[in-house]
Amino acid sequence: MREVKRQKLAAALWVGWALALPVVGQIAREANSQYQTPEGRQQVAANLDAPDREQRQRPHELVEAMGVGRGMTVVDVGTGIGYMLPFLSRAVGPAGKVVAEDIFEDYLAAARQRAVDQKLINVAFIHGTDKDPKLPASSADRVLVLDVYHHFDYPEAMLAGISKSLKPDGRLVIVEYYKSDKAMPNGRALTHIRLDKRDVIKEIEANHFRLLSEREQISDVQYMLVFDRAVRP
Ligand SMILES: C[S@@+](CC[C@H](N)C(=O)[O-])C[C@H]1O[C@@H](n2cnc3c(N)ncnc32)[C@H](O)[C@@H]1O
Repeated sequence: MREVKRQKLAAALWVGWALALPVVGQIAREANSQYQTPEGRQQVAANLDAPDREQRQRPHELVEAMGVGRGMTVVDVGTGIGYMLPFLSRAVGPAGKVVAEDIFEDYLAAARQRAVDQKLINVAFIHGTDKDPKLPASSADRVLVLDVYHHFDYPEAMLAGISKSLKPDGRLVIVEYYKSDKAMPNGRALTHIRLDKRDVIKEIEANHFRLLSEREQISDVQYMLVFDRAVRP
């Protein structure tokens, strides 16, 4: 009798584990639903390049708060159409380097075009995957993850790849939307944001980073978190 119970429990655990697998692999399903087709990605791109974005996003302030300096190597993980590239490129200067990474080739093509149009000669491009940003090891002074963390389907794997890419005193900079059911000026609510700020910090610290500072990026809308590696090589 006891053996039957044990077998039933084992079977139930196995089914639970098997059912959980696809969920674990697609935890950002809602956030990523619009990214599944080129047309959906184009609609997202229009928002990323909206004429009023500079006024809302305040990219110069963002770059300053990241502590970006001349000669640094800065990675823009999930660069999209490369909105931040001109600001990062100018901040690091000709002796520095910007690495623009994304998982979609159409976004990378748009980001490359932006770099050509704006004569940004210090930008390199990397086509990563949803589990691996494919960044060179121990090379980055700053890794920016702007409006991207809640899109990670595999946050642990992405954080491991980012961690490897950082120099020993490098910093991971997360800029994220507050999870909220309040409507934004565009009428959309931010319910697709997976975690609130406290849980983002918890998840990233559980993956061997240490929170150094936090600030409000856009009042009541977006925050910035700066981490270093809790365990250095
Ligand atoms: C809302 S857009 C933000 C783009 C850009 N950071 C900006 O602020 O303009 C989210 C971006 O994250 C990218 N993305 C989603 N999952 C990713 C992953 N695992 N690794 C890298 N990029 C990812 C998407 O392709 C998209 O370009």
